[in-house]
Amino acid sequence: MSLMPIVKYGDAVLRKKTAAVPQIDDELLHTIGDMLRTMYAAPGIGLAANQVGLSKCFAVIDIQPGGQRHPMVIINPVIEERSGTIFEEEGCLSIPGFANKIKRAAKVRVRALNEHGLPVVIEGEGLMARCLQHEIDHLNGKLYIDHLPLVSRLRVKRDIERRRKQGLF
Ligand code: NI
Repeated sequence: MSLMPIVKYGDAVLRKKTAAVPQIDDELLHTIGDMLRTMYAAPGIGLAANQVGLSKCFAVIDIQPGGQRHPMVIINPVIEERSGTIFEEEGCLSIPGFANKIKRAAKVRVRALNEHGLPVVIEGEGLMARCLQHEIDHLNGKLYIDHLPLVSRLRVKRDIERRRKQGLF
């Protein structure tokens, strides 16, 4: 078990749609363990496989309700239903040092496989809904800043480039 380096904004792997996971094997389970460890260490509440350089369709999530750990894995997830709207601040481990308010569905229903290869349906509200949408966006090559209005998005991109030149990103 070891921590994995997190890929940052600008790496092409974050922009590529990930490939469906064909089967759940020991290697995948080992990677899931390392990703959870990496997510908790960051610290973060979600980590998609392409954020550790693997272009595969799965992510780990733990919003830690009540401060307790409840790790969850979503494999080949699909959002089946969205409802309502929330506007909250979001950040991303691949875009460290930035946080912006964006619009998301307030409730989602997600169909996925769990780590045992069993189909699961997850109903998420509030933070859980946002986390699910954020991670599933990642798996489709999308980042939270893509939801920002154009002017704000350009400002974030410019700030990232500036910090990168200063060696701060
Ligand atoms: Ni993220």
